[in-house]
Amino acid sequence: MEKIETILSKKFQNAFKAAGYDEMFGRVRRSDRPDLCEFQCSGAMSAARNYHKAPLAIAQDVLKKAEEGNKDKSFFEAVIAAPGFININISGEFLASYIMEMDEDKFLSIPQTENPKKIIIDYGGPNVAKPLHVGHLRSAVIGECLKRLGRAVGNEVLGDVHLGDWGLQMGLIITELRARRPELIYFSDTAPEDPAEYPSEAPFTISELEEIYPFASEKSKTDEEYKLKAMEATHLLQEGRPGYRALWNKIMEISTADLRKNYARLDVTFDLWKSESDAQPYIPDMVRYLKDKGYAYYNEGALVIDVALPEDKKKIPPCMVLKSDGASLYNTTDLATIVERMKLFSPDEIIYVVDKRQSLYFTQIFRAARKAHLVDEDTELKHVGFGTMNGRDGKPFKTREGGVMRLETLLDEINTGMIKKISENKNVREEDTEKIARIVSLSAIKYGDLSNQAAKDYVFDTDKFTAFEGNTGPYILYTIVRIKSILEKAGKGTAGTLLPPDTPEERNLMLDIGRFGSVVSEAFEELAPHKICAFIYETANDFNRFYHETKIIAEPDAGRRGSYLHLLGTAEKMLEKSIDILGFSAPDHM
Ligand code: ARG
Repeated sequence: MEKIETILSKKFQNAFKAAGYDEMFGRVRRSDRPDLCEFQCSGAMSAARNYHKAPLAIAQDVLKKAEEGNKDKSFFEAVIAAPGFININISGEFLASYIMEMDEDKFLSIPQTENPKKIIIDYGGPNVAKPLHVGHLRSAVIGECLKRLGRAVGNEVLGDVHLGDWGLQMGLIITELRARRPELIYFSDTAPEDPAEYPSEAPFTISELEEIYPFASEKSKTDEEYKLKAMEATHLLQEGRPGYRALWNKIMEISTADLRKNYARLDVTFDLWKSESDAQPYIPDMVRYLKDKGYAYYNEGALVIDVALPEDKKKIPPCMVLKSDGASLYNTTDLATIVERMKLFSPDEIIYVVDKRQSLYFTQIFRAARKAHLVDEDTELKHVGFGTMNGRDGKPFKTREGGVMRLETLLDEINTGMIKKISENKNVREEDTEKIARIVSLSAIKYGDLSNQAAKDYVFDTDKFTAFEGNTGPYILYTIVRIKSILEKAGKGTAGTLLPPDTPEERNLMLDIGRFGSVVSEAFEELAPHKICAFIYETANDFNRFYHETKIIAEPDAGRRGSYLHLLGTAEKMLEKSIDILGFSAPDHM
């Protein structure tokens, strides 16, 4: 379905043509001065330069033509404002019919892209054997939303968790486990080649694993010999030593099961559970290619690709492909992952949702990949860099004791508070309390994050985010639940034909609803979920104003009542679709 501004643009493009001007001047946009008008065409000013004519005269010519198909102002009302703007308000009839059409539309008016792309979104990025902490929250929440947004406008989108499973952390765990339990078969010199010959049960639980890693990591900081051992173990693992490979498999098994559980709690899902290690087989050929083609060269022993450009304002250092000891690094893996993704999926676009502190890094990677033609010319690489999640003191979010907070702990704390709140609510049955609290908590966390511009740091303020009033997830859910309960009270089949709006409040609500398709496409173009949040907050406010001014079920005129109920039904559908894109849902009661 077309956006309202597209429908108006066509109308005015025809009018420009009919009046003897180029139709390209006829574009209509949403006005940035809603106090003056809803839509605006400023093409007469540009046309004036081309045709050496006063903009006012052009605007008059055009409007006369446009009015020909607009008998009794059934479509729009327009006035000309100096020096040649055409200010447009749409008619209530048009607005009502647009929303009725939207209601029937499979995509609820979201314009579907003409050239669907295949997009890979790299988000999550957790490291195996380390618990998810709050630092992982933003990537998961924003990435999941971008995935749903990309699909909503008609693209094919694959989410990839891109596990960190190949670094020193694996060597540290192996080393520590070996020190504690040298008798395990994994460490024996005669460890079997065949993975099937190892015990099916892992020699640790997830809690043990999560204790071992930080312990080993701390120890390696002061114990040089220990660190060397861990590096050696990492190296042997990467070389493919059978016992270590088998142990690594166990670590992966236990760790991913736990990660899946945690992401499921956030309603975050991945189509691909690929990891850094999957890219390793691509490294040797890639390195050979980079050297043979002369894209990479040795500098002080390290293999690097120059990525600086003459127009750079600050220095962009070369992208290192291999360290001077020949070892591969984070960069190598990301470049090889690009090679792998091109080979397996040939995507049109890869989007990385990673902390903005890695933005120089991604500049290097993207330039290196482009320069060496590791990606097709028209495959886009984008980094959506997000800011830090801070605590109320303005410093990176920590536990009360000052440690790194586990994501699980944060979710539990918010849930507990929410259960208390919800259980005070008489509309909720006791047995539903926990389930509803979980839904509402998730809305608080996700909306709290997504309503901020991704690139900015933000303060995670639990009290504010979980409040039922203000610009919060729970407020949006509360509004949806209110609409649901009115519709429920009215009963099935009570909605009638949508009539033109009766009051300014109703008109505002209808205008909001009519903007939905525009907002979603813009949010995707700009990879900006906060635009959807701002939109639904405004819509929720406008709904609540309308609701306070209007008797809906008690409306005596049956046609009017049916129209109100129709409008509420569309509003509800649209709000539910919006929060689904954001990555959460609404309960039936709260
Ligand atoms: N595991 C990495 C980290 O913890 C994040 C990975 C991001 N994705 C990527 N393709 N580099 O920093």
